[in-house]
Amino acid sequence: MTSIRIPAAADFHVHLRDGTMMETVVPTIRQGGASLAYVMPNLVPPISSVQQALDYHSRLQALDPSVTFLMTLYLSPEITPEVIAEAAATGKIAGVKSYPKGVTTNSDAGVVDYASFYPVFAAMEEHDLVLNLHGECPSNSTTSLLNDAETFQPATSSTTTILNAEESFLPTLLDLHSRFPKLRIVLEHCTTAAAIAAVKQCGPTVAATITAHHLYLTIDNVAGNPHCFCKPVAKLPSDRAALMAAATSGDPKFFLGTDSAPHPKNKKIGTANAAAGVFTQPYAVSYIATAFDRVGKMDAVRAFVAEFGRAFYKTVEKGWESAEDVTKDAIELKKEPGVKVVDEFGQGEGVVVPFMAGETVWSVTWL
Ligand code: DOR
Ligand code: ZN
Repeated sequence: MTSIRIPAAADFHVHLRDGTMMETVVPTIRQGGASLAYVMPNLVPPISSVQQALDYHSRLQALDPSVTFLMTLYLSPEITPEVIAEAAATGKIAGVKSYPKGVTTNSDAGVVDYASFYPVFAAMEEHDLVLNLHGECPSNSTTSLLNDAETFQPATSSTTTILNAEESFLPTLLDLHSRFPKLRIVLEHCTTAAAIAAVKQCGPTVAATITAHHLYLTIDNVAGNPHCFCKPVAKLPSDRAALMAAATSGDPKFFLGTDSAPHPKNKKIGTANAAAGVFTQPYAVSYIATAFDRVGKMDAVRAFVAEFGRAFYKTVEKGWESAEDVTKDAIELKKEPGVKVVDEFGQGEGVVVPFMAGETVWSVTWL
């Protein structure tokens, strides 16, 4: 297969930022083949009120009214059962994102103890909002290698590192699912075979997103290139193979969430601590098509990028999209001549480098 027509993709995990970076990134959503973007709330300050989410929604829509933006709230003490009811009533907020404190970009306000949020989860179950989990336990602090008190913990302390952080989180996923079996939960950006197995083991209310970049990367790539560094980090070849198998399997629990996470180039290179995040928005579907083609699974692209996520989130049932629009808004993917990933997007301090710059991938054309 060298070309294929499919409905526009729905990207169920994006970071669109604010200000100048937002202006650079939002126009690349459709370029990447998506007509729907599920927007992460980890701005500075985080989106932790309904009004903030609605204001952010307006700023995004003003930049591209042809994209459906679904908003999320940042799980923090401001989020109460009352806020959940209010959020659901807006019809624009679809979920709540949980970051364990300290695991990634702008997670300082994140969760320390899930038990304190059980009333919130119960309200989410009642109002049918989705819980989006960043599934990593925090590692030991790495702020200073000389600060014994902070970093060289006693032998009994946490043994979590970025390599086992996701696997360590999986018991929390299983526990939350057993306490709130009707709550729809998405384990975001799975990177391990263990995470795929855990999601399969859960009932139909638990699903997972898989990014484009994790279908390509292993930890070796991350070690050599800050543009491949994100949280959770890519793991072993066997993990990557499990992600690829899940994404191409036709199992509706697994769908696209790119976790496209732009950071200015000067926060990636020439700095002591590279910011975590891989920018994939402008070529989202291209990367997926190119990866799936390499394993002879082009026939699985349509469901993975355009169908399973929409079904899990009930986008048509909830009135966010019409069934007609979803089938009318179509894209064509072509292997030849393909498209070369440009070196940079944006200008000046806001320059951001896309994943696989300089490589040729399948092209996306809107029909
Ligand atoms: O690599 C990441 N970057 N992982 C996240 O969870 C957050 C994201 C960001 O916002 O940059
Ligand atoms: Zn993310």
